[in-house]
Amino acid sequence: MTSDAMRRWIISLAIFSLILKCSAITADYAASFSMSAITADYATSLSMLVNGVLDLTTNDTGIIYINSTDTGSLTAFNYDNLELYTGDNFSKLSNVVDMFAIASYNDMMGDMIFLYNYVAYNGYHEPMSMAMDSDFAGDVLEYMQTGVINVDYTYIVSTTTDPTLASFYTNLSTQSNPIMQ
Ligand SMILES: *[C@@H]1O[C@H](CO)[C@@H](O)[C@H](O)[C@H]1NC(C)=O
Ligand SMILES: *[C@@H]1O[C@H](CO)[C@@H](O)[C@H](O)[C@H]1NC(C)=O
Ligand SMILES: *[C@@H]1O[C@H](CO)[C@@H](O)[C@H](O)[C@H]1NC(C)=O
Ligand SMILES: *[C@@H]1O[C@H](CO)[C@@H](O)[C@H](O)[C@H]1NC(C)=O
Repeated sequence: MTSDAMRRWIISLAIFSLILKCSAITADYAASFSMSAITADYATSLSMLVNGVLDLTTNDTGIIYINSTDTGSLTAFNYDNLELYTGDNFSKLSNVVDMFAIASYNDMMGDMIFLYNYVAYNGYHEPMSMAMDSDFAGDVLEYMQTGVINVDYTYIVSTTTDPTLASFYTNLSTQSNPIMQ
């Protein structure tokens, strides 16, 4: 086993216990979780999603909603309430929706853009990768260029709690406005 594979395996085990822990939290979502501050659990979960290490399925089914009331300052998405069926990632994506509500409550728009798209891509990591040519990168460029998200890159960088995601947005902004040679 390469050290990379070993690292991945150890991380996977850690993630599985995190998911079980999060699932317990989800049950109390309406009562308290939606009003939560950004916590260490939130930061760890977001980092796992951003870095693509949350690569297991939870093998449960259900319908995932992001309602307009959840989108808060991300009004661009209000008209487009998200409703999707997942064949095997229900509790994983439910946790992401809970994180989205926390990000919304705290006006962390940079996090919200990532979490919304993560759900929209049904929990697939590949389209959400931090590569400059990923589907997610194309989506963000389009949101910004068409004014669907009516703020600048500095704003979404400053409303992102994850350093890798912030770096991704910063790099994308230089692609959006290439410096003329
Ligand atoms: C569930 O998530 C995994 C990655 O965690 C992904 O490989 C898989 O395709 C997803 N399943 C569906 C039905 O989207
Ligand atoms: C989900 O189901 C697949 C196929 O049956 C199995 O290989 C995998 O270990 C299961 N994952 C979990 C987290 O139970
Ligand atoms: C979102 O909308 C669906 C469908 O109308 C509803 O079942 C669900 O309870 C709503 N969720 C929230 C958090 O309001
Ligand atoms: C952004 O670009 C810098 C400099 O090229 C690089 O070190 C960093 O890894 C990039 N960030 C992401 C998220 O790809």
